[in-house]
Amino acid sequence: MIIVIIGAQWGDEGKGKVVDLLADRFDIVARYQGGHNAGHSVYVGEKAFVLRLLPSGIIHEGKTCVLGNGMVIDPKAFFEEVDQMQEQGISVTPERLKVSSRAHLIMPYHRALDHTSEERLGNEKIGTTLRGIGPAYEDKAGRRGIRVSDALVPELLKSRIERNLAEANRVIVLFGRPPLYADEIYNEISVLAERLRPFVCETSHFLSEAGKENKKILLEGAQATLLDVDHGTYPYVTSSNPTAGGAAVGAGIPPHHISGVLGIVRTYTTRVGEGPFPTEMLDKEEDVANLIRKRGNEYGSVTKRPRRCGWFDAVATKYAAQLNGFNSVALTKLDVLDALDEIKVCVGYEIDGEKVDTFPAVSLDLRQIRPIYETLKGWKSETLGMTKLEDLPTQAREYVEFLSNSIGVEIGLISTGPERDQTIILPDSVMESWFK
Ligand code: IMP
Repeated sequence: MIIVIIGAQWGDEGKGKVVDLLADRFDIVARYQGGHNAGHSVYVGEKAFVLRLLPSGIIHEGKTCVLGNGMVIDPKAFFEEVDQMQEQGISVTPERLKVSSRAHLIMPYHRALDHTSEERLGNEKIGTTLRGIGPAYEDKAGRRGIRVSDALVPELLKSRIERNLAEANRVIVLFGRPPLYADEIYNEISVLAERLRPFVCETSHFLSEAGKENKKILLEGAQATLLDVDHGTYPYVTSSNPTAGGAAVGAGIPPHHISGVLGIVRTYTTRVGEGPFPTEMLDKEEDVANLIRKRGNEYGSVTKRPRRCGWFDAVATKYAAQLNGFNSVALTKLDVLDALDEIKVCVGYEIDGEKVDTFPAVSLDLRQIRPIYETLKGWKSETLGMTKLEDLPTQAREYVEFLSNSIGVEIGLISTGPERDQTIILPDSVMESWFK
């Protein structure tokens, strides 16, 4: 069985907790795109783990984790995270962690180029995480990239660094930054590559063999649907494909081997970085945004940036459900809305007085959208930590049902707090079958 988990909005929907919950039932957890731009917080009892590059399954003893070919890996960040995990008592060995030989490396000049690219865009900057993700994918698509397997061949690594850096430095210097030196980069990366060697694996083959042995595989998407380079709010997106189709390419598995797609949806919406956000709480609604940010701790787990907050957008989420083919949805952070008198849900878009039926491709159109809202009554009582649907206040249950109807997918799991046991799994749902 292979299940893909994907954020339905602009990220930070709480995938970390759901992957962590499911990881117990699966043998392998694999990532298929992105890099250390992701940030998953997982709370286990008193301990908090922040995962950037490693799949959340790493916290579970006996599970194997895979970094797929579709990822871009900063070797320095990789070992920082591995060391951090070891310090927290998690064993991270090559037996448990497999890194694709075909994944691309993020090099120090990619980080510098991420800065210059943002500077160049000025007012139209993307608001990237500045981790070098975009420039590394540019090199991949430009067929200049350095793959993990290349880094294991010293002469190849050296010549690629020299060639690529000559070009990168031209841009770096043009933007008034100090040039980088090929020998310094080579000295740093070659040591890291040697340390990486035991982890390197033909991960597509590994996953294929695991499938033959009936192992259960969880594919963990990072970022989210609306940040997808093809389907998101381009150009305000990341440079990879978090959507379900990307999972097959980025993990190197046949699409028809995927048994199900799980969407992660939050009861409201957030966004970090720039870009259109039709339901953003602005002006008069800033107080609500502040309340949600505080209650939901809506600050980037990687960059600590305050996240922009907005109402649930059923148009965008339905679009995500259609693109990914969600079989079931996990709804997170219900308890964050406990304090609200009323809750708005965007059920339609209007541009220039005309109703829009599909999610617009042009970011300018998205900025001009007037959201059409329905207002639901809040429940004004605590749902934190509830574990049974019957215990939820009537208005909370109505809210959940309203969201499920408006996106056209079952809600099979409701998260009522950050801890593992603060969760409701709906009986007889598709979701429940994945937990068996
Ligand atoms: P990049 O992935 O660093 O190139 O950033 C591109 C856009 O994706 C920016 O708006 C980032 O804030 C956003 N982004 C990247 N990773 C995440 C994530 O894990 N959660 C939420 N937003 C993200």
